Amino acid sequence: MNAAVASGYPRVYGHASADPEAFWLEAARAVDWYEPPTRAFDPALGVYGRWFPDGVTNTCHNALDRHVAAGRGLQTAIIHDSPVSGQVRRLSYAAVLEETRLLAGLLAEMGVGRGDRVVIYMPMVPEALIAMYATARLGAVHSVVFGGFAAPELAARIEDAAPKVVLAASCGLEPNRVVAYKPLLDEALARSAHKPSGCLVLQRPQVEARLVPGRDRDWAEAMADARARGLSAECVPVAATDPLYILYTSGTTGRPKGIVRDSGGHLVSPLWSMPNLYGIAPGEVFWTASDIGWVVGHTYIAYAPLFHGATTVLYEGKPVGTPDAGAFWRVCEQHGVVTLFTAPTALRAIRKEDPEGRLVKSRDLSGLRALFLAGERADPDTVAWAERTFGIPVIDHWWQTETGWPIAGNPIGLGTLPVKHGSPTVPMPGYRLETLDEAGHALPPGRMGTLAIRLPLPPACLPTLWGDDDRFRETYLTQFPGYYTTSDAGYLDDDGYVWVMGRTDDVINVAGHRLSTGAMEEVLASHPAVAECAVIGIRDALKGEVPAGFVVLKSGAEAAPAAVEAELVALVRDRIGPVAAFKLAVTVGRLPKTRSGKILRGTMKKLADGATWTVPATVDDPAIFDEIAAALKPRGLPAG
Ligand code: COA
Ligand code: AMP
Repeated sequence: MNAAVASGYPRVYGHASADPEAFWLEAARAVDWYEPPTRAFDPALGVYGRWFPDGVTNTCHNALDRHVAAGRGLQTAIIHDSPVSGQVRRLSYAAVLEETRLLAGLLAEMGVGRGDRVVIYMPMVPEALIAMYATARLGAVHSVVFGGFAAPELAARIEDAAPKVVLAASCGLEPNRVVAYKPLLDEALARSAHKPSGCLVLQRPQVEARLVPGRDRDWAEAMADARARGLSAECVPVAATDPLYILYTSGTTGRPKGIVRDSGGHLVSPLWSMPNLYGIAPGEVFWTASDIGWVVGHTYIAYAPLFHGATTVLYEGKPVGTPDAGAFWRVCEQHGVVTLFTAPTALRAIRKEDPEGRLVKSRDLSGLRALFLAGERADPDTVAWAERTFGIPVIDHWWQTETGWPIAGNPIGLGTLPVKHGSPTVPMPGYRLETLDEAGHALPPGRMGTLAIRLPLPPACLPTLWGDDDRFRETYLTQFPGYYTTSDAGYLDDDGYVWVMGRTDDVINVAGHRLSTGAMEEVLASHPAVAECAVIGIRDALKGEVPAGFVVLKSGAEAAPAAVEAELVALVRDRIGPVAAFKLAVTVGRLPKTRSGKILRGTMKKLADGATWTVPATVDDPAIFDEIAAALKPRGLPAG
C-alpha cells in the first residue's frame, strides 16, 4: 500500500499502540487544563480504568473562553441556518460566551452545581448549544433528548438522569408540521417519578407553550432579568473523570442505556480528530448535518469544532424538502463549508430527487474539500455516486454512541489512505480492533465475526453506563473478557481495513437513527389483542432499514386485524416516537420458531428482504414461512 506509506497513519497508529501513555499525554497538550494530567491512564480506576485521572479542566472553557482570550472573539462560532424558520443567524465566539455565562448564572441560581444533571429537550437552535455549554461551565452533566422521541421515552430519561432542571423549547419544526414540545414534556414529567425543581422554556414564535406556574419560567424573560442583574458564572474546574454528559441510546430492551462521557477524554480525542482525521484548521467552517440529540451532533456539532477554534454550522432543516434537494449545497456555498459530515441516507434522499446532481452543479462548491459519512454502512453505490458528483474524497467512518468519536476512518489530515468502497478504512489511534468468533478467539483477516476492541478503550469512549456499572460490564465486557464488544459484525482485511456489515443484536438503523426492535416488541406486546410478536428491520432503499412488526393476535381479536394493525402503528408512535418510523404491522397466524421456541427473526428478515434464504434445520414447522410470505405479498414485499 504505497499511499499508506505516504500517509502518516501507520506511524501515528503504531505510536498510540506501542506507547499509549506518551501518545495521549502528548495529545492532551492541545487542551487547556487547570492541572495538566501527569498520567494518561490508570487501569486501577473505574470498570476498566480511567483516562487522565489527575487532570483538572472545564469543557466550556475549552470551547469558548480560551478562544475569546486568544483573540477569536469576533470569529463566528455558530452559524444557525434554519430553512424551516427562514432564518440564518451568526453568533460570534464572544456572543456565545456572553450568553453562556448568563445562562450558567441562571442555572446556578436554580440550584445547579457540579455533578447535577440538566435535561435538554430542544430542537436545533443556538440556545440548545448554549444550554450544553452553560451546563458544562458549572461542572454539571447534561442529557440531551432528541425531539423525535415521544413522552414515555423522555420520561424514562428524566427518571434515570434525575435532573435538577429541564431546559426545553416550545416546539420543533418539521417540514410537514410543528412539533409542540411542551405538552410532551408535561406528559413526561407527569409520568416520571422524578420531578425537576424547575424548567426554563424557550418560546418560539410558531407555538407558545403554556407555562406551569411555580415550575416553568420563560427563557427570554429569565435571561433579560439575569442580564439586568449582571448575573454571570465562571467555569468550575472539574476532574477529567467527571461526567460531562449522559446520552441515552437504544439497547436490547425498552430501557435506554445512559452512555456516560467523561470530561477529559472527550476533550482529548475529539480535538485530536479535527486536524488529523478531518483535516480541519482553526477558523474553518465544519458542518455536521446531524442533530444534537445524537452522539454525532454532540461531538461534531456542539463540541469538537469549537474546541478547535473552528466554526460550526447548526442546520435546522432536512436534506430534501427544505425547500429542495439542493439545500445542502446552498448551505455549503453560502457559509464556505470546507467539510460536510452527514449520513448516507441523506445522500440517498438527495440522489433520489437529483440523480444527475444538477443542483450540485449550480453551486460554487470549490471550498468543499471532503465529505464524511457515518451512522450506518455507506453502501458502495451511494459512495461512488457522491465521488462522481463532487469530485472530492468521500470518507465513510464508523461510529457508536458509546465511543463518542470514530472507531475507524480515513485520516485525511495525516494523509488520505486509498478508499475501498464499503469499508470505513482503518482503526483510529487507541482502538485495538480484532474480529472474534463466538468463543472469543481472534479470527484471521477476511473472516467474519464480531468486531471487538481490546481494552482499554481510548479516551472519549464510555467509562460506564450512568449509575449502572454492572449493566455496563454485562452488556459490553462479559462476552469476550478483556474486550469491549461493538455488537457489530464484520472483518478486517489483509490491508488492515475494517468492514462493518451489520449488528449482531436487535438494534436496527433507520435513516441513520439507532433503534431497538426489542423496545418496539415491548410496545406491541402491551396491546391487549396481541398474543406474540416479532419486530425486524427490513431493507429500505432510502432509510437503509425500516421496522416491520409481525403479530399473532389473541383469539377473538383475529376478526379485525386491520384495525389492530393501525392501532399498533399509532401505539409505537405514541410510546417511542415518530423517529421509530414504524409504519408496518402485519398479522400472521404463527411465528416461525425453533423447536426450543426461539423466533427465527434472521430468516424472516431474509424472506422480507427478498434475499436468498434456506429453511433452518431447527425450524418447528417450515410451512410457517409460506404463510409469512403470503402475508407480506399484499404489502408489496419483498420490494422489487
Ligand atoms: N422532532 C420531531 N419529529 C422528528 C424529528 C425531530 N427532531 N426528526 C424526525 N422526526 C419525525 C419526522 O417528521 C418523521 O415523521 P412522520 O412520520 O410524521 O413523517 C419521522 O420522525 C421519521 O423521520 P425520518 O426517519 O427522519 O424520516 P423523514 O422521511 O422525515 O426524512 C431523511 C428522511 C433521510 C431525509 C432523514 O431521516 C435524514 O436526514 N436522516 C439523516 C439522519 C442523521 O443525520 N442521522 C445522524 C447520523 S450521522
Ligand atoms: P449510533 O450509536 O446511533 O451512532 O449507532 C451506532 C451503530 O450504527 C453502529 O454500531 C453500527 O451498527 C452503525 N454504524 C454507524 N456508522 C457506521 C458505518 N460507517 N458503517 C457501518 N455501520 C455503521
